[in-house]
Amino acid sequence: MFYEPAKKNHGLRHSPLKAIVAPRPIGWISSMSSTGTVNLAPYSFFNMICETPPLLMFSSNGRKDTVTNIEATGEFVCNLATLDLIEEVNLSSVPAGPDQSEFELLGIESAPSSLVKPPRVAASPCALECVYVETIRPRDKSGQECSFHMVIGEVVGVYIADAALVDGRVDDAKLHALARCGYLDYAPVDRLVERPRPPSLDQLPKRGG
Ligand SMILES: Cc1cc2nc3c(=O)[nH]c(=O)nc-3n(C[C@H](O)[C@H](O)[C@H](O)COP(=O)(O)O)c2cc1C
Repeated sequence: MFYEPAKKNHGLRHSPLKAIVAPRPIGWISSMSSTGTVNLAPYSFFNMICETPPLLMFSSNGRKDTVTNIEATGEFVCNLATLDLIEEVNLSSVPAGPDQSEFELLGIESAPSSLVKPPRVAASPCALECVYVETIRPRDKSGQECSFHMVIGEVVGVYIADAALVDGRVDDAKLHALARCGYLDYAPVDRLVERPRPPSLDQLPKRGG
């Protein structure tokens, strides 16, 4: 089959697009409102966009509480979602009011961050402490602003639980890092396959005849 997203002519019950751009990492984002309410929500339009400096982004469909908080207070934390926290990750997407804390509503334990005010999720093995950089309003091909707010932050501090480090490496398979696929599906990382980077062109192994 072939379809054009603008024409919504896939003829399927649900758009398959997010199942194709999958698995997507989940930014499980804690932030704090200007009045001190601590917020927690998952965002799978999330990724690192630059390594040095370490910049990451998430994209919110509308100006959700996480965006409002980060723009107001300038800080946030991206907690690593893992399979054993799947219920908490999923439930923290509940549409709670701006003065309600998902940490309190769901009984999720928090732990203080080192450099920023919003706390991290205590049970998450890794957390990236971030300082807000900018919000970009993505546009479509005709220049029309879309409903999304893409927030960019710089990672200023990295928490890794001692137990998450094995032989000096963060092993996503041991942690069962959790990714988002299409529909209501999630995918835990349970197997890693290592490959060395390709050598120079003239050292490439011969393939075929
Ligand atoms: C795994 C998962 C990933 C999600 N990713 C996004 C996303 O990338 N962008 C978005 O706008 N909403 C996303 N949502 C929905 C938000 O988490 C939900 O609207 C939440 O209530 C927003 O919380 P906030 O208003 O406290 O920021 C996702 C939900 C789940 C369960």
